[in-house]
Amino acid sequence: MNVPQRKTLLIALVAIFFTQTWFVYSDPIGAQTRLSDHAIQGRGLWLKHNCQSCHQLFGFGGFLGPDLTNVASRFADSNGTRFDARLATILTEGSKVMPAFHLDREQRDKLASYLREINEAGVGQPRAASAITPHEHFSSIVQKVIPPAGWTDAEARGWALMEMHSCISCHLPNKSSSLQAPRLTTLVGVSGEDRVRKVLAQGSLEKGMPNFGLSADKIESLVQMLIRLQDADEGIRAGYGTVKGVSTRSLKDLPWFEYSR
Ligand code: HEC
Ligand code: HEC
Repeated sequence: MNVPQRKTLLIALVAIFFTQTWFVYSDPIGAQTRLSDHAIQGRGLWLKHNCQSCHQLFGFGGFLGPDLTNVASRFADSNGTRFDARLATILTEGSKVMPAFHLDREQRDKLASYLREINEAGVGQPRAASAITPHEHFSSIVQKVIPPAGWTDAEARGWALMEMHSCISCHLPNKSSSLQAPRLTTLVGVSGEDRVRKVLAQGSLEKGMPNFGLSADKIESLVQMLIRLQDADEGIRAGYGTVKGVSTRSLKDLPWFEYSR
C-alpha cells in the first residue's frame, strides 16, 4: 500500500470511529427530548456508570432493577426532597443487588435532574424481561449437570447464597457484562481461593462488586460451591446448548438481559 492510500484508509477509519461513537451515544431519548445542560451532565453520569445495564428508561435497558422512567414521580412530594433523599440513599448505600456508587452531592443532583426531566418527557412502559432470565438459565443448567442431591451441606448453603445475591446477573458466563465481572464458574481457578475469599469479604466497590456483608461461614460455603462449579465448568458450558429457549451453543449469542429488546 502506498502512502496516499494509507492516509485515505486512516482517515476513513477515523471517520467510521466517530460515526459509530456518535450513534452509540446519541440514544433515542436524547434525540426526542430537550434536556437542560444540568440534565445532560446527569445523562453523562448515567452512561458512564452503566445504570442502563440494570434499569430501563422508556423500555430500553436491563431488567435487574426497576424501570426508572417515572421514578421521579413515584417519589414526588411537595418540595421535591423525597426523590433526592431516595436517590442519595440508594446511590450511597446500594442494595443487595445494586452496587453503591461513590458520587458527590453535585453528581447526584445532576442524575436527579436527568431523571426528573426524563419523567416529564413521558410515561415509561416497562417491558417484561425476556422469557427466561440469565439467573434461570444458569440455575437449570447447574442443577442438570450437578444434581443438588449430590451436594454437601456447605455447597447447598453456598448455592442458596448465590441465588439470593444473584451472582450470575453480573458474573455472566460469556463475560459480556458491561460491568466486566469475571465468569462465575472459573472464579476459583482463575483468581485462586485466597483472592476469592478476600473479595467476598470486602467487595470491590469502585469496580462494581458489592460488599454483601458475608460472615466467614458464608464465605466458606460460597467458596465450596465455587470449587464445585469450577470442577463442573466444562459440563456447565456444554449445558448451555441444551436448555430450552436457547437455540445456540455459542455463549456469545445468548439472549442476556442487558440490551435485549
Ligand atoms: C447491578 C445492577 C444495578 C446498577 C448498575 C444500578 N442499579 Fe439502581 N437498582 C438496582 C436494583 C436491583 C434496584 C432495586 C433495589 C432494591 O429494591 O433494593 C435499584 C434501585 C434503584 C433506584 C430506586 C428505585 C425505586 O423505585 O426505589 C434508583 C433511583 C436507582 N436504582 C438508580 C440507579 C442509578 C442512577 C444507577 C447508576 C448510577 C443505578 N441505579 C445502577 C440495580 C442496579
Ligand atoms: C452487581 C454486580 C455483581 C454481583 C451481584 C456480584 N458481583 Fe462479584 N464482581 C463484580 C465485578 C464488577 C467484579 C470485578 C471487580 C474487579 O475487577 O475488581 C467482581 C469480582 C468478583 C470476585 C473477584 C474476582 C477477582 O479475581 O478479582 C469474586 C470472587 C466475586 N466477584 C464473587 C462474587 C460472588 C460469589 C457473588 C454472589 C454472592 C458476586 N460476586 C456477585 C460484580 C458483581
